[in-house]
Amino acid sequence: MHILGIVGSMRKNRHTNLLVNSVIDNIKEALPEASSEVIYPVDKKIEPCRVTCNKFCSQNPYKCITDDGAAETIEAMIKADAIVIGTPLYFRSAPSKFYMLVEKIIAIFFNYQANGINEVESPLKNKPCGLVGVAEYSNPHQMLEYLNDFCTLLNMNPVRISKFPYLGVSGQGDVTKDEIFKPFERSKDLAAALIKELNAAARPK
Ligand SMILES: Cc1cc2nc3c(=O)[nH]c(=O)nc-3n(C[C@H](O)[C@H](O)[C@H](O)COP(=O)(O)O)c2cc1C
Repeated sequence: MHILGIVGSMRKNRHTNLLVNSVIDNIKEALPEASSEVIYPVDKKIEPCRVTCNKFCSQNPYKCITDDGAAETIEAMIKADAIVIGTPLYFRSAPSKFYMLVEKIIAIFFNYQANGINEVESPLKNKPCGLVGVAEYSNPHQMLEYLNDFCTLLNMNPVRISKFPYLGVSGQGDVTKDEIFKPFERSKDLAAALIKELNAAARPK
């Protein structure tokens, strides 16, 4: 069992990272044999989608003409059994480096499926993913919705929890003191929901 974390923040050691790793740690506590890795797009060379080269990704399933951090991230996503993905809110959207990665990955999948021969099924189909959204004074829910949209467009399986805010783990302000969204309690719930999906996938059909 391999768990991939993706931390969209420009800061590698702050709130988003704490919560993504909290979900991963809770999974590993329940499944000690599980391995994990965390990708920080801030460390990766990611070029914006050039758009005019879309013939390439339309004809080459789930590949980009540019071999950059987006290709590495897709490879890691395919290899993982489950993904925990988090982003903070920076002025109405995600941090631009992460936004660029998301735009590029969506373009790679969309162009092949919508404009290509679409013979190869998405390698991310039904992949369970847990979502983490963080903000300071705004409602972090918009980042959960943004990530939910991203995962849905890739035909993945964004896993819900049965407690507020349902779409995943939210954190507001100093997440270690957040009594509204209770992100560390919800991290346990999200880990349990992901484990349920992993167990269901492992059962013989
Ligand atoms: C450039 C920038 C823009 C931000 N814009 C907003 C915002 O519009 N609304 C908000 O609630 N928080 C905003 N924040 C606060 C971050 O969402 C908050 O500090 C969050 O915890 C950052 O995540 P991190 O600790 O993982 O870096 C902004 C922070 C930065 C650095």
